[in-house]
Amino acid sequence: MSFIVKKKIAGKEYYYLQKSVREGNKIKSKFISYLGKNLEDAKMKAEKIKELEEKNIIPYKESETKIISKISIEELANFCKRKGFVYPSGDIYGGLGGFWDFGHLGTELVNNIKNQWKIYHIQKRDDLVLVDGSIITNPKVWEASGHVSSFVDLAVECKKCKYKSKIDKHELKNAKCDKCGSEYENKGEFNPMFTTQIGPIKENSTKAYLRPETAQLIFANFKLIQENARLQLPFGIAQIGKSFRNEISPREFLFRAREFEQMEIEYFIEQDQHCPYIDEIKKIKILIYDEKSQKENSSPILMNLYEACKKGIIKTDWHAYWIGKEFKWFTSLGANPNNFRARQHLSEEKSHYSIDTWDLEYNFPMGWRELEGFANRGDFDLKQHQNYSKYSMELTKSDGKKIMPHVVCEPSLGIGRALIVFLLESYYFNKETNTTILKLHPKLSPIKCSIFPIIKKPEYEHIAKKILDDLRNEFNCEYDISGSIGRRYARNDEIGTPYCITIDEESIKNKDITIRERDTKEQIRVKIKNLRKIMKKLINEEINFTEAGRPIKK
Ligand code: GAP
Repeated sequence: MSFIVKKKIAGKEYYYLQKSVREGNKIKSKFISYLGKNLEDAKMKAEKIKELEEKNIIPYKESETKIISKISIEELANFCKRKGFVYPSGDIYGGLGGFWDFGHLGTELVNNIKNQWKIYHIQKRDDLVLVDGSIITNPKVWEASGHVSSFVDLAVECKKCKYKSKIDKHELKNAKCDKCGSEYENKGEFNPMFTTQIGPIKENSTKAYLRPETAQLIFANFKLIQENARLQLPFGIAQIGKSFRNEISPREFLFRAREFEQMEIEYFIEQDQHCPYIDEIKKIKILIYDEKSQKENSSPILMNLYEACKKGIIKTDWHAYWIGKEFKWFTSLGANPNNFRARQHLSEEKSHYSIDTWDLEYNFPMGWRELEGFANRGDFDLKQHQNYSKYSMELTKSDGKKIMPHVVCEPSLGIGRALIVFLLESYYFNKETNTTILKLHPKLSPIKCSIFPIIKKPEYEHIAKKILDDLRNEFNCEYDISGSIGRRYARNDEIGTPYCITIDEESIKNKDITIRERDTKEQIRVKIKNLRKIMKKLINEEINFTEAGRPIKK
Protein backbone atom coordinates (compact mmCIF):
# COMPACT_ATOMS: atom_id res chain seq x y z
CA MET A 1 0.00 0.00 0.00
CA SER A 2 1.34 3.48 -0.82
CA PHE A 3 0.90 6.65 1.24
CA ILE A 4 2.04 10.30 1.28
CA VAL A 5 4.64 11.38 3.80
CA LYS A 6 5.48 14.98 4.78
CA LYS A 7 9.06 15.85 5.76
CA LYS A 8 10.39 19.11 7.13
CA ILE A 9 13.88 20.02 5.89
CA ALA A 10 15.46 23.36 6.86
CA GLY A 11 12.00 24.70 7.81
CA LYS A 12 10.42 23.74 4.48
CA GLU A 13 7.84 20.99 3.85
CA TYR A 14 8.38 18.32 1.20
CA TYR A 15 6.03 15.49 0.20
CA TYR A 16 7.00 11.94 -0.73
CA LEU A 17 5.20 8.81 -1.81
CA GLN A 18 6.18 5.76 0.22
CA LYS A 19 5.06 2.16 0.24
CA SER A 20 4.85 -0.54 2.95
CA VAL A 21 6.81 -3.62 1.99
CA ARG A 22 7.37 -6.83 3.89
CA GLU A 23 11.03 -7.82 4.37
CA GLY A 24 11.09 -11.11 6.31
CA ASN A 25 9.12 -10.50 9.50
CA LYS A 26 9.38 -6.76 9.28
CA ILE A 27 7.18 -4.23 7.49
CA LYS A 28 9.38 -1.51 6.04
CA SER A 29 8.57 1.78 4.41
CA LYS A 30 10.10 2.14 0.93
CA PHE A 31 10.58 5.36 -1.02
CA ILE A 32 8.67 5.53 -4.33
CA SER A 33 8.78 9.10 -5.55
CA TYR A 34 9.30 12.73 -4.60
CA LEU A 35 5.97 14.58 -4.92
CA GLY A 36 6.99 18.24 -4.55
CA LYS A 37 6.36 21.00 -2.04
CA ASN A 38 2.61 21.50 -2.40
CA LEU A 39 0.14 19.06 -0.81
CA GLU A 40 -2.54 19.38 -3.52
CA ASP A 41 0.02 18.78 -6.31
CA ALA A 42 1.46 15.91 -4.28
CA LYS A 43 -1.96 14.23 -4.03
CA MET A 44 -2.47 14.52 -7.78
CA LYS A 45 0.98 13.13 -8.54
CA ALA A 46 0.41 10.24 -6.12
CA GLU A 47 -2.89 9.39 -7.88
CA LYS A 48 -1.13 9.43 -11.26
CA ILE A 49 1.59 7.09 -9.99
CA LYS A 50 -0.99 4.66 -8.53
CA GLU A 51 -2.87 4.70 -11.83
CA LEU A 52 0.31 3.93 -13.76
CA GLU A 53 1.22 1.17 -11.33
CA GLU A 54 -2.20 -0.43 -11.72
CA LYS A 55 -1.71 -0.42 -15.50
CA ASN A 56 1.72 -1.82 -14.80
CA ILE A 57 3.43 1.17 -16.28
CA ILE A 58 6.60 1.67 -14.31
CA PRO A 59 6.99 5.35 -13.46
CA TYR A 60 10.34 6.98 -14.10
CA LYS A 61 11.54 9.37 -11.41
CA GLU A 62 8.71 11.83 -10.84
CA SER A 63 6.28 9.61 -12.68
CA GLU A 64 6.46 11.48 -15.99
CA THR A 65 5.47 8.94 -18.60
CA LYS A 66 8.02 9.84 -21.19
CA ILE A 67 7.01 10.96 -24.61
CA ILE A 68 9.35 9.88 -27.32
CA SER A 69 11.05 12.84 -28.94
CA LYS A 70 10.22 13.05 -32.58
CA ILE A 71 13.62 12.82 -34.17
CA SER A 72 14.43 10.72 -37.16
CA ILE A 73 17.05 8.01 -37.12
CA GLU A 74 19.23 10.19 -39.41
CA GLU A 75 18.99 13.10 -36.96
CA LEU A 76 19.99 10.75 -34.16
CA ALA A 77 22.99 9.55 -36.20
CA ASN A 78 24.03 13.20 -36.79
CA PHE A 79 23.71 13.98 -33.10
CA CYS A 80 25.81 10.91 -32.22
CA LYS A 81 28.55 11.98 -34.63
CA ARG A 82 28.53 15.61 -33.45
CA LYS A 83 28.76 14.68 -29.78
CA GLY A 84 31.28 11.85 -30.14
CA PHE A 85 29.06 8.83 -29.52
CA VAL A 86 29.23 7.03 -32.89
CA TYR A 87 30.94 7.80 -36.24
CA PRO A 88 30.75 6.11 -39.65
CA SER A 89 33.76 3.78 -39.69
CA GLY A 90 36.78 5.28 -41.44
CA ASP A 91 34.83 8.51 -41.88
CA ILE A 92 37.75 10.50 -43.36
CA TYR A 93 37.70 8.05 -46.31
CA GLY A 94 33.93 8.29 -46.76
CA GLY A 95 32.93 5.57 -44.27
CA LEU A 96 31.92 2.01 -45.12
CA GLY A 97 28.26 0.92 -45.28
CA GLY A 98 27.17 -1.00 -42.19
CA PHE A 99 30.33 -0.39 -40.12
CA TRP A 100 30.52 2.07 -37.23
CA ASP A 101 33.18 3.36 -34.83
CA PHE A 102 32.37 4.38 -31.28
CA GLY A 103 33.82 7.56 -29.75
CA HIS A 104 34.60 8.06 -26.08
CA LEU A 105 31.00 8.69 -25.00
CA GLY A 106 29.61 5.93 -27.22
CA THR A 107 32.12 3.41 -25.87
CA GLU A 108 31.22 4.32 -22.30
CA LEU A 109 27.49 4.13 -23.07
CA VAL A 110 27.86 0.72 -24.73
CA ASN A 111 29.92 -0.53 -21.78
CA ASN A 112 27.27 0.73 -19.34
CA ILE A 113 24.50 -1.02 -21.32
CA LYS A 114 26.50 -4.26 -21.27
CA ASN A 115 27.27 -3.88 -17.60
CA GLN A 116 23.62 -3.29 -16.66
CA TRP A 117 22.64 -6.28 -18.78
CA LYS A 118 25.26 -8.39 -17.04
CA ILE A 119 24.17 -7.31 -13.54
CA TYR A 120 20.50 -8.04 -14.31
CA HIS A 121 20.98 -11.34 -16.14
CA ILE A 122 24.07 -12.89 -14.55
CA GLN A 123 25.16 -11.20 -11.33
CA LYS A 124 21.69 -11.16 -9.75
CA ARG A 125 20.77 -14.73 -10.72
CA ASP A 126 21.93 -18.23 -9.76
CA ASP A 127 20.88 -19.94 -12.98
CA LEU A 128 22.91 -18.10 -15.62
CA VAL A 129 26.61 -18.00 -16.55
CA LEU A 130 28.50 -15.88 -19.04
CA VAL A 131 30.98 -17.18 -21.66
CA ASP A 132 33.00 -15.69 -24.49
CA GLY A 133 33.56 -17.73 -27.65
CA SER A 134 35.85 -16.78 -30.51
CA ILE A 135 34.61 -14.92 -33.59
CA ILE A 136 36.16 -17.40 -36.03
CA THR A 137 35.80 -21.06 -35.17
CA ASN A 138 35.93 -24.45 -36.83
CA PRO A 139 33.70 -24.12 -39.95
CA LYS A 140 32.05 -27.44 -39.05
CA VAL A 141 30.19 -25.51 -36.31
CA TRP A 142 28.35 -23.59 -39.06
CA GLU A 143 27.73 -26.68 -41.15
CA ALA A 144 26.17 -28.42 -38.13
CA SER A 145 24.11 -25.40 -37.13
CA GLY A 146 22.56 -25.21 -40.60
CA HIS A 147 23.91 -21.73 -41.24
CA VAL A 148 25.96 -22.78 -44.30
CA SER A 149 22.95 -24.36 -46.01
CA SER A 150 19.90 -22.56 -44.59
CA PHE A 151 20.89 -19.09 -43.35
CA VAL A 152 19.71 -17.36 -46.51
CA ASP A 153 17.96 -14.15 -47.42
CA LEU A 154 16.48 -13.10 -50.71
CA ALA A 155 18.34 -10.34 -52.57
CA VAL A 156 15.98 -8.02 -54.42
CA GLU A 157 16.37 -4.95 -56.64
CA CYS A 158 13.75 -2.29 -57.32
CA LYS A 159 12.52 -2.55 -60.91
CA LYS A 160 12.33 1.25 -61.14
CA CYS A 161 14.96 2.98 -58.99
CA LYS A 162 17.37 -0.03 -58.77
CA TYR A 163 17.51 0.18 -54.93
CA LYS A 164 18.96 -3.07 -53.58
CA SER A 165 17.53 -4.72 -50.48
CA LYS A 166 17.03 -8.06 -48.73
CA ILE A 167 13.73 -9.51 -47.71
CA ASP A 168 12.43 -12.73 -46.19
CA LYS A 169 11.30 -15.25 -48.79
CA HIS A 170 7.66 -15.05 -47.64
CA GLU A 171 7.61 -11.27 -48.25
CA LEU A 172 8.41 -11.45 -51.97
CA LYS A 173 4.78 -11.40 -53.17
CA ASN A 174 3.80 -8.20 -51.36
CA ALA A 175 7.09 -6.35 -50.80
CA LYS A 176 7.44 -2.89 -52.32
CA CYS A 177 10.61 -0.82 -52.68
CA ASP A 178 11.49 1.06 -49.45
CA LYS A 179 12.63 4.05 -51.51
CA CYS A 180 10.00 4.52 -54.25
CA GLY A 181 7.27 1.94 -53.58
CA SER A 182 7.70 0.08 -56.91
CA GLU A 183 7.93 -3.69 -57.35
CA TYR A 184 11.07 -5.65 -56.56
CA GLU A 185 12.86 -8.06 -58.87
CA ASN A 186 14.07 -11.32 -57.28
CA LYS A 187 17.89 -11.47 -57.58
CA GLY A 188 18.18 -14.85 -55.89
CA GLU A 189 19.18 -16.23 -52.51
CA PHE A 190 22.36 -15.18 -50.73
CA ASN A 191 24.06 -16.28 -47.54
CA PRO A 192 24.97 -13.27 -45.37
CA MET A 193 27.91 -15.00 -43.62
CA PHE A 194 31.27 -13.25 -44.14
CA THR A 195 33.98 -15.68 -45.24
CA THR A 196 37.71 -15.54 -44.66
CA GLN A 197 40.79 -17.71 -45.22
CA ILE A 198 42.84 -19.24 -42.43
CA GLY A 199 46.53 -19.60 -43.27
CA PRO A 200 48.85 -17.33 -45.26
CA ILE A 201 49.15 -19.42 -48.43
CA LYS A 202 45.95 -19.28 -50.41
CA GLU A 203 46.17 -22.81 -51.90
CA ASN A 204 46.65 -24.44 -48.47
CA SER A 205 44.28 -22.22 -46.56
CA THR A 206 40.93 -23.19 -45.06
CA LYS A 207 37.72 -21.32 -45.67
CA ALA A 208 36.15 -20.06 -42.44
CA TYR A 209 33.31 -17.78 -41.38
CA LEU A 210 32.91 -14.76 -39.13
CA ARG A 211 30.15 -15.76 -36.74
CA PRO A 212 26.67 -14.47 -37.71
CA GLU A 213 25.35 -14.97 -34.14
CA THR A 214 27.04 -15.45 -30.77
CA ALA A 215 24.75 -18.37 -29.90
CA GLN A 216 26.55 -21.22 -31.70
CA LEU A 217 29.61 -21.65 -29.50
CA ILE A 218 27.27 -21.87 -26.50
CA PHE A 219 25.79 -24.98 -28.14
CA ALA A 220 29.11 -26.41 -29.32
CA ASN A 221 30.67 -25.95 -25.84
CA PHE A 222 27.48 -26.89 -24.02
CA LYS A 223 28.79 -29.96 -22.19
CA LEU A 224 32.06 -28.32 -21.11
CA ILE A 225 30.28 -25.25 -19.75
CA GLN A 226 27.59 -27.29 -18.00
CA GLU A 227 30.11 -29.60 -16.35
CA ASN A 228 32.55 -26.85 -15.33
CA ALA A 229 29.87 -24.66 -13.78
CA ARG A 230 27.94 -27.71 -12.39
CA LEU A 231 24.71 -26.34 -13.87
CA GLN A 232 21.40 -28.11 -13.27
CA LEU A 233 18.36 -27.69 -15.51
CA PRO A 234 16.79 -25.20 -15.94
CA PHE A 235 19.77 -22.93 -16.62
CA GLY A 236 21.01 -20.39 -19.09
CA ILE A 237 24.30 -19.66 -20.81
CA ALA A 238 24.85 -16.10 -22.01
CA GLN A 239 27.32 -14.43 -24.29
CA ILE A 240 28.06 -10.83 -25.24
CA GLY A 241 30.07 -10.24 -28.39
CA LYS A 242 30.44 -9.22 -32.00
CA SER A 243 28.51 -10.81 -34.84
CA PHE A 244 28.86 -10.19 -38.56
CA ARG A 245 26.36 -10.35 -41.40
CA ASN A 246 26.97 -9.25 -44.94
CA GLU A 247 23.68 -7.36 -45.09
CA ILE A 248 22.80 -6.45 -48.66
CA SER A 249 21.55 -3.01 -47.65
CA PRO A 250 22.74 -1.92 -44.21
CA ARG A 251 20.65 1.04 -43.15
CA GLU A 252 19.05 3.10 -40.45
CA PHE A 253 22.21 3.87 -38.48
CA LEU A 254 23.07 1.01 -36.08
CA PHE A 255 19.73 -0.70 -36.67
CA ARG A 256 20.98 -2.86 -39.53
CA ALA A 257 24.76 -3.05 -39.48
CA ARG A 258 27.24 -5.52 -40.96
CA GLU A 259 29.30 -5.67 -37.78
CA PHE A 260 27.27 -5.47 -34.57
CA GLU A 261 27.24 -6.75 -31.01
CA GLN A 262 24.73 -9.15 -29.51
CA MET A 263 23.80 -10.08 -25.95
CA GLU A 264 22.29 -13.56 -26.15
CA ILE A 265 20.99 -16.14 -23.70
CA GLU A 266 20.39 -19.79 -24.52
CA TYR A 267 18.00 -20.99 -21.81
CA PHE A 268 17.99 -24.78 -21.43
CA ILE A 269 15.19 -26.81 -19.83
CA GLU A 270 14.09 -30.41 -19.67
CA GLN A 271 11.34 -30.67 -22.28
CA ASP A 272 7.97 -29.47 -20.86
CA GLN A 273 9.57 -28.28 -17.60
CA HIS A 274 7.62 -25.30 -16.24
CA CYS A 275 9.02 -21.89 -15.40
CA PRO A 276 9.40 -21.51 -11.62
CA TYR A 277 9.88 -17.74 -11.92
CA ILE A 278 6.59 -16.95 -13.68
CA ASP A 279 5.27 -14.98 -10.66
CA GLU A 280 7.90 -12.31 -11.34
CA ILE A 281 6.07 -11.21 -14.49
CA LYS A 282 2.50 -11.94 -13.38
CA LYS A 283 1.46 -8.28 -13.38
CA ILE A 284 3.16 -7.17 -16.57
CA LYS A 285 0.95 -5.92 -19.36
CA ILE A 286 2.19 -5.31 -22.88
CA LEU A 287 0.70 -4.99 -26.36
CA ILE A 288 0.49 -8.50 -27.80
CA TYR A 289 0.32 -9.16 -31.54
CA ASP A 290 0.01 -12.86 -32.24
CA GLU A 291 0.10 -14.58 -35.64
CA LYS A 292 -3.71 -14.88 -35.80
CA SER A 293 -4.30 -11.14 -35.23
CA GLN A 294 -1.71 -10.27 -37.87
CA LYS A 295 -3.26 -12.60 -40.44
CA GLU A 296 -6.74 -11.20 -39.67
CA ASN A 297 -5.38 -7.67 -39.95
CA SER A 298 -6.60 -6.80 -36.45
CA SER A 299 -4.73 -4.64 -33.94
CA PRO A 300 -2.42 -5.76 -31.13
CA ILE A 301 -4.14 -6.12 -27.74
CA LEU A 302 -2.90 -4.80 -24.39
CA MET A 303 -2.74 -7.96 -22.29
CA ASN A 304 -1.25 -9.41 -19.19
CA LEU A 305 1.61 -11.69 -20.30
CA TYR A 306 0.59 -14.36 -17.80
CA GLU A 307 -3.01 -14.33 -19.10
CA ALA A 308 -1.73 -14.56 -22.67
CA CYS A 309 0.16 -17.67 -21.65
CA LYS A 310 -2.81 -19.20 -19.83
CA LYS A 311 -5.00 -18.60 -22.89
CA GLY A 312 -2.44 -20.37 -25.12
CA ILE A 313 -1.64 -17.21 -27.13
CA ILE A 314 1.94 -17.47 -25.89
CA LYS A 315 2.62 -21.19 -25.96
CA THR A 316 5.11 -21.61 -23.12
CA ASP A 317 5.44 -19.93 -19.74
CA TRP A 318 9.16 -19.52 -20.49
CA HIS A 319 8.41 -17.35 -23.48
CA ALA A 320 6.04 -15.17 -21.44
CA TYR A 321 8.63 -14.99 -18.65
CA TRP A 322 11.56 -13.91 -20.81
CA ILE A 323 9.54 -11.37 -22.81
CA GLY A 324 8.39 -9.88 -19.49
CA LYS A 325 11.89 -9.90 -18.00
CA GLU A 326 13.43 -8.16 -20.99
CA PHE A 327 10.62 -5.58 -21.18
CA LYS A 328 11.20 -4.89 -17.46
CA TRP A 329 14.94 -4.43 -18.07
CA PHE A 330 14.30 -1.69 -20.61
CA THR A 331 11.67 0.09 -18.50
CA SER A 332 13.81 -0.14 -15.34
CA LEU A 333 16.42 1.87 -17.25
CA GLY A 334 13.98 4.62 -18.12
CA ALA A 335 12.25 3.45 -21.33
CA ASN A 336 8.56 4.23 -21.78
CA PRO A 337 6.55 0.94 -21.63
CA ASN A 338 4.10 2.26 -24.21
CA ASN A 339 6.79 2.08 -26.89
CA PHE A 340 7.09 -1.73 -26.70
CA ARG A 341 5.01 -4.64 -27.98
CA ALA A 342 5.44 -8.42 -28.34
CA ARG A 343 4.88 -9.76 -31.85
CA GLN A 344 4.80 -13.42 -32.85
CA HIS A 345 6.60 -14.40 -36.05
CA LEU A 346 4.39 -15.66 -38.85
CA SER A 347 5.00 -19.38 -39.50
CA GLU A 348 6.62 -18.61 -42.86
CA GLU A 349 8.90 -15.97 -41.29
CA LYS A 350 10.63 -18.19 -38.70
CA SER A 351 14.34 -19.08 -38.87
CA HIS A 352 15.37 -22.59 -39.92
CA TYR A 353 15.92 -23.65 -36.28
CA SER A 354 12.80 -22.15 -34.70
CA ILE A 355 9.58 -23.81 -33.46
CA ASP A 356 8.01 -20.51 -32.36
CA THR A 357 9.50 -17.00 -32.26
CA TRP A 358 8.34 -13.78 -30.65
CA ASP A 359 9.99 -10.38 -31.01
CA LEU A 360 10.02 -7.59 -28.49
CA GLU A 361 9.33 -4.74 -30.89
CA TYR A 362 9.97 -1.05 -30.33
CA ASN A 363 8.22 1.92 -31.88
CA PHE A 364 11.29 3.28 -33.73
CA PRO A 365 10.98 6.52 -35.76
CA MET A 366 10.74 4.29 -38.88
CA GLY A 367 7.88 2.24 -37.32
CA TRP A 368 7.49 -0.89 -35.16
CA ARG A 369 10.61 -3.02 -35.62
CA GLU A 370 12.36 -5.95 -33.94
CA LEU A 371 14.42 -4.92 -30.95
CA GLU A 372 15.02 -8.34 -29.41
CA GLY A 373 14.19 -11.85 -30.65
CA PHE A 374 12.94 -14.81 -28.57
CA ALA A 375 13.15 -18.06 -30.55
CA ASN A 376 12.15 -21.47 -29.25
CA ARG A 377 15.01 -23.51 -30.77
CA GLY A 378 13.93 -26.77 -29.14
CA ASP A 379 16.71 -29.37 -29.23
CA PHE A 380 17.65 -28.53 -32.84
CA ASP A 381 21.14 -27.14 -32.16
CA LEU A 382 22.34 -29.64 -29.56
CA LYS A 383 21.12 -32.56 -31.69
CA GLN A 384 22.84 -31.16 -34.78
CA HIS A 385 26.15 -30.76 -32.93
CA GLN A 386 25.80 -34.23 -31.44
CA ASN A 387 25.18 -35.72 -34.89
CA TYR A 388 28.03 -33.86 -36.60
CA SER A 389 30.64 -34.16 -33.82
CA LYS A 390 29.60 -37.61 -32.49
CA TYR A 391 30.01 -36.07 -29.04
CA SER A 392 27.07 -36.64 -26.67
CA MET A 393 25.18 -33.50 -25.70
CA GLU A 394 22.81 -35.36 -23.39
CA LEU A 395 22.61 -34.82 -19.65
CA THR A 396 22.16 -37.63 -17.16
CA LYS A 397 19.41 -37.18 -14.59
CA SER A 398 19.69 -38.36 -10.97
CA ASP A 399 17.65 -41.50 -11.90
CA GLY A 400 20.20 -42.32 -14.62
CA LYS A 401 17.88 -41.32 -17.47
CA LYS A 402 19.57 -39.46 -20.34
CA ILE A 403 17.85 -36.38 -21.75
CA MET A 404 18.52 -33.86 -24.47
CA PRO A 405 17.91 -30.34 -23.08
CA HIS A 406 15.68 -27.93 -25.04
CA VAL A 407 16.28 -24.24 -25.61
CA VAL A 408 12.75 -23.14 -24.98
CA CYS A 409 13.66 -19.50 -25.32
CA GLU A 410 16.61 -17.57 -26.68
CA PRO A 411 16.47 -13.87 -25.72
CA SER A 412 18.75 -12.25 -28.28
CA LEU A 413 19.37 -8.50 -28.27
CA GLY A 414 21.54 -6.31 -30.49
CA ILE A 415 23.44 -3.69 -28.48
CA GLY A 416 23.20 -1.15 -31.33
CA ARG A 417 19.39 -1.38 -31.26
CA ALA A 418 19.36 -1.06 -27.45
CA LEU A 419 21.61 1.99 -27.73
CA ILE A 420 19.22 3.60 -30.25
CA VAL A 421 16.29 2.94 -27.89
CA PHE A 422 18.00 4.48 -24.85
CA LEU A 423 19.09 7.52 -26.85
CA LEU A 424 15.66 8.08 -28.42
CA GLU A 425 14.00 7.70 -25.04
CA SER A 426 16.26 10.27 -23.42
CA TYR A 427 16.60 12.84 -26.20
CA TYR A 428 14.71 16.04 -25.40
CA PHE A 429 15.09 19.08 -27.63
CA ASN A 430 13.85 22.46 -26.40
CA LYS A 431 12.92 24.51 -29.46
CA GLU A 432 12.67 27.77 -27.51
CA THR A 433 16.14 27.59 -25.99
CA ASN A 434 17.62 25.54 -28.84
CA THR A 435 19.12 23.16 -26.29
CA THR A 436 19.21 19.38 -26.01
CA ILE A 437 19.00 17.39 -22.81
CA LEU A 438 19.88 13.73 -22.85
CA LYS A 439 17.88 12.36 -19.91
CA LEU A 440 19.79 9.08 -19.78
CA HIS A 441 19.28 6.92 -16.73
CA PRO A 442 22.24 7.74 -14.42
CA LYS A 443 23.36 4.10 -14.56
CA LEU A 444 23.78 4.46 -18.33
CA SER A 445 25.24 7.98 -18.48
CA PRO A 446 28.81 7.91 -19.84
CA ILE A 447 29.91 10.64 -17.40
CA LYS A 448 28.28 10.50 -13.97
CA CYS A 449 29.21 13.98 -12.80
CA SER A 450 31.02 17.10 -13.86
CA ILE A 451 32.87 19.28 -11.37
CA PHE A 452 33.10 23.06 -11.76
CA PRO A 453 35.01 25.61 -9.71
CA ILE A 454 32.71 28.60 -10.08
CA ILE A 455 35.67 30.87 -10.85
CA LYS A 456 39.29 30.27 -11.92
CA LYS A 457 41.04 30.79 -8.58
CA PRO A 458 43.58 28.42 -7.01
CA GLU A 459 41.58 27.91 -3.76
CA TYR A 460 38.44 26.87 -5.72
CA GLU A 461 40.41 24.75 -8.17
CA HIS A 462 42.25 23.01 -5.36
CA ILE A 463 38.97 21.82 -3.75
CA ALA A 464 37.54 20.85 -7.14
CA LYS A 465 40.61 18.75 -8.05
CA LYS A 466 40.53 16.99 -4.68
CA ILE A 467 36.84 16.10 -5.21
CA LEU A 468 37.63 14.93 -8.75
CA ASP A 469 40.44 12.66 -7.53
CA ASP A 470 38.17 11.16 -4.90
CA LEU A 471 35.08 10.58 -7.10
CA ARG A 472 37.18 9.14 -9.92
CA ASN A 473 37.79 6.11 -7.74
CA GLU A 474 34.13 5.23 -8.24
CA PHE A 475 33.04 6.45 -11.67
CA ASN A 476 33.73 8.65 -14.72
CA CYS A 477 33.82 12.32 -13.76
CA GLU A 478 34.89 15.41 -15.66
CA TYR A 479 36.46 18.67 -14.64
CA ASP A 480 35.07 21.70 -16.45
CA ILE A 481 36.40 25.20 -15.97
CA SER A 482 35.70 26.92 -19.29
CA GLY A 483 32.77 29.25 -19.99
CA SER A 484 29.90 30.45 -17.83
CA ILE A 485 28.20 28.10 -15.39
CA GLY A 486 25.11 28.10 -17.65
CA ARG A 487 27.24 27.05 -20.62
CA ARG A 488 28.87 24.29 -18.56
CA TYR A 489 25.46 22.96 -17.44
CA ALA A 490 24.21 22.99 -21.05
CA ARG A 491 27.31 21.12 -22.30
CA ASN A 492 26.80 18.43 -19.70
CA ASP A 493 23.01 18.19 -20.18
CA GLU A 494 23.63 17.49 -23.86
CA ILE A 495 25.79 14.44 -23.20
CA GLY A 496 23.56 13.11 -20.42
CA THR A 497 25.66 13.88 -17.32
CA PRO A 498 23.09 13.51 -14.50
CA TYR A 499 24.85 15.59 -11.83
CA CYS A 500 26.98 18.76 -11.81
CA ILE A 501 28.94 19.84 -8.75
CA THR A 502 29.91 23.48 -8.20
CA ILE A 503 32.55 24.77 -5.82
CA ASP A 504 31.83 28.35 -4.71
CA GLU A 505 32.81 30.83 -2.05
CA GLU A 506 30.78 29.03 0.63
CA SER A 507 32.61 25.78 -0.15
CA ILE A 508 35.83 27.33 1.18
CA LYS A 509 34.16 28.46 4.41
CA ASN A 510 31.72 25.60 5.04
CA LYS A 511 33.41 22.66 3.24
CA ASP A 512 30.29 21.93 1.24
CA ILE A 513 29.31 22.09 -2.44
CA THR A 514 26.19 22.32 -4.63
CA ILE A 515 24.89 19.36 -6.64
CA ARG A 516 22.52 20.15 -9.49
CA GLU A 517 20.28 17.46 -10.97
CA ARG A 518 20.04 17.45 -14.76
CA ASP A 519 16.33 16.59 -15.24
CA THR A 520 14.67 18.69 -12.51
CA LYS A 521 17.36 21.42 -12.28
CA GLU A 522 16.90 21.16 -8.49
CA GLN A 523 19.96 21.88 -6.38
CA ILE A 524 21.10 20.63 -2.99
CA ARG A 525 23.96 21.47 -0.69
CA VAL A 526 26.12 18.57 0.51
CA LYS A 527 29.16 18.31 2.82
CA ILE A 528 32.31 17.39 0.87
CA LYS A 529 33.13 14.60 3.30
CA ASN A 530 29.80 12.86 2.45
CA LEU A 531 29.92 13.49 -1.29
CA ARG A 532 31.32 10.19 -2.55
CA LYS A 533 28.79 8.14 -0.55
CA ILE A 534 25.89 10.35 -1.65
CA MET A 535 26.87 10.28 -5.32
CA LYS A 536 26.98 6.48 -5.25
CA LYS A 537 23.51 6.34 -3.70
CA LEU A 538 22.11 8.83 -6.23
CA ILE A 539 23.44 6.90 -9.21
CA ASN A 540 22.15 3.60 -7.85
CA GLU A 541 18.74 5.18 -7.09
CA GLU A 542 19.04 4.36 -3.40
CA ILE A 543 18.13 7.88 -2.34
CA ASN A 544 15.90 10.65 -3.60
CA PHE A 545 17.71 13.76 -4.78
CA THR A 546 16.07 16.27 -2.44
CA GLU A 547 16.61 13.91 0.50
CA ALA A 548 20.31 13.63 -0.26
CA GLY A 549 21.20 17.12 0.99
CA ARG A 550 19.84 20.53 1.95
CA PRO A 551 17.58 21.74 -0.89
CA ILE A 552 18.45 25.18 -2.27
CA LYS A 553 15.72 27.66 -3.11
CA LYS A 554 15.88 28.68 -6.77
N1 GAP B 1 20.78 -16.10 -32.28
C1 GAP B 1 19.55 -15.62 -32.81
C2 GAP B 1 19.70 -14.45 -33.65
O1 GAP B 1 20.79 -14.01 -33.97
P1 GAP B 1 18.32 -12.61 -34.93
O2 GAP B 1 16.85 -12.27 -34.84
O3 GAP B 1 18.90 -12.81 -36.28
O4 GAP B 1 18.51 -13.91 -34.03
C3 GAP B 1 18.93 -11.22 -32.83
O5 GAP B 1 19.16 -11.49 -34.19
C4 GAP B 1 19.07 -9.74 -32.54
O6 GAP B 1 20.33 -9.26 -33.01
C5 GAP B 1 18.03 -8.87 -33.23
O7 GAP B 1 16.83 -8.80 -32.50
C6 GAP B 1 18.74 -7.53 -33.28
O8 GAP B 1 18.61 -6.86 -32.03
C7 GAP B 1 20.19 -7.94 -33.48
N2 GAP B 1 20.56 -7.89 -34.91
C8 GAP B 1 20.38 -8.84 -35.84
N3 GAP B 1 20.87 -8.47 -37.03
C9 GAP B 1 21.36 -7.22 -36.86
C10 GAP B 1 22.01 -6.28 -37.72
N4 GAP B 1 22.26 -6.55 -39.00
N5 GAP B 1 22.39 -5.09 -37.20
C11 GAP B 1 22.16 -4.79 -35.90
N6 GAP B 1 21.57 -5.64 -35.04
C12 GAP B 1 21.17 -6.84 -35.50
